[in-house]
Amino acid sequence: MRVEPIRWRDGTLSLLDQTLLPTQTLRREYRDYRQVARAIETMVVRGAPAIGVTAAYGVALAARELSEAGATDWRPGLDAAIRTLAATRPTAVNLFWALERMGAAADRLRGETAATAAAALAAEAEAIRAADVAANRRLGAHGAALLPDPCTVLTHCNAGALATAGYGTALGVVRAAKESGKRVRVVADETRPLLQGARLTAWELAEDDIDVTLISDNMAGYRLQRGGVDAVVVGADRVAANGDAANKIGTYPLAVLAREHGVPFYIAAPLSTVDFATASGAGIPIEQRDHREVTHLAGQRVAPQGISVWNPAFDVTPAALITAIVTEAGVARAPYGAALAALRDAAQAAESVR
Ligand code: MRU
Repeated sequence: MRVEPIRWRDGTLSLLDQTLLPTQTLRREYRDYRQVARAIETMVVRGAPAIGVTAAYGVALAARELSEAGATDWRPGLDAAIRTLAATRPTAVNLFWALERMGAAADRLRGETAATAAAALAAEAEAIRAADVAANRRLGAHGAALLPDPCTVLTHCNAGALATAGYGTALGVVRAAKESGKRVRVVADETRPLLQGARLTAWELAEDDIDVTLISDNMAGYRLQRGGVDAVVVGADRVAANGDAANKIGTYPLAVLAREHGVPFYIAAPLSTVDFATASGAGIPIEQRDHREVTHLAGQRVAPQGISVWNPAFDVTPAALITAIVTEAGVARAPYGAALAALRDAAQAAESVR
């Protein structure tokens, strides 16, 4: 099965509602960028690359709205829409990367009519979507080469097709390993509080007939201690210039456990997830989410009323605990500052030749 979290047809954005999976497979349609911003906030769509691609389509919808309203000076309205979309989720840098790319495309359209700009911005969003799938496939192949055959991979949250425009980053590595003929099994952490591992990773792997075993988060230590896990592979929401990586809360303890048990710990992320402007993990903004995500399970309260809650959505794994960062341009190893910059420069050089 090909999971298609984000679809654009005839000027309408369609998102697979990830808050309902796996019990319901429902698509929602969007023609208003404000509703798109709300969908990102409420995690109808989630995962750093998927958020970026969705926001890009949001900008295209805003441009069309301005065109339909007969706007002659469309740029101020477009910038307001970009600000609304940027205010949704602070950690996933792909959101800001995609919005900057849409802003740069808008700069090139200065002097054009709103209708011309709307068509060109829809094409730009489509290019971002297609590039993400292509990057994931290349990244997957680089990562698959690091895995033994047979192998068992432990992963956290969902860095799969659902979290991207398709194919996935961490799960792209798993898919590529399987496609290359390797026998691969996955151990998926359930990923409290929103259960992206149980609801999304387990679902998309099972749909693709990839062997997956679900564990609760507090079982990961025992699972690694018993042996037989060959690698921990996770995605990232933002990788700082020095290689520190923000990912779903609970990733950092996995990296500590992997180090303790001599298991390689890989981050799989496209270069659009690397924030070269942020020197280290200390500069990565960490999203705090609603307390109800912790006090409630599937709408049912499981904690005392009025209890104090801390609910950071992400943690930061120090570069020193990361064995390698797998990107579409190749595999970076410590020291990450130089290695990531070299991969970025090589990718940019290859792009300018094309
Ligand atoms: O809060 P979420 O579900 O958006 O968090 C997602 C993650 O932490 C993913 O691992 C990350 O965005 C990488 S997705 C390829």
